[in-house]
Amino acid sequence: MAEPVASKSHWTIWRIPSQAVIGGRPAPGRLSHPNAFPMPKITFIGSDGTTYTVEGEPGSTVMETAIKNNVPGIEAECGGACACATCHVYIEEAWRARTGEPSPMEEDMLDFGYDVRPNSRLSCQIKVTDELDGLVVRVPERQA
Ligand code: FES
Repeated sequence: MAEPVASKSHWTIWRIPSQAVIGGRPAPGRLSHPNAFPMPKITFIGSDGTTYTVEGEPGSTVMETAIKNNVPGIEAECGGACACATCHVYIEEAWRARTGEPSPMEEDMLDFGYDVRPNSRLSCQIKVTDELDGLVVRVPERQA
């Protein structure tokens, strides 16, 4: 349980114990060990076969993970608003059930994608979760 450490006017500074858990993960800060709850790993395979395995933050999207880690081939021109189709990826077959099907809005936007296939998804519409640890996606040869 958090305990107040100091108080100044209406602000109170709280000490969060090292075992604190927020949203299923340890509370942020130096009191939790970075390896205590490893982040889900996502592998992006470029059209030239280059592989990028990076850590995704639960609650962010696969697109945001790619951009944050400078994965080439993901442009995300609309910033994740499902309005550009430049974050198009192919989901490896083994992961399709876990990533789910595109929403009707995503399907409409995929019509503007380049070389769209049955396993196409917009990476901005896929939330990173612990269940997606190990996810493998392929980046198309080019975006729309
Ligand atoms: Fe624009 Fe995904 S970032 S549709």
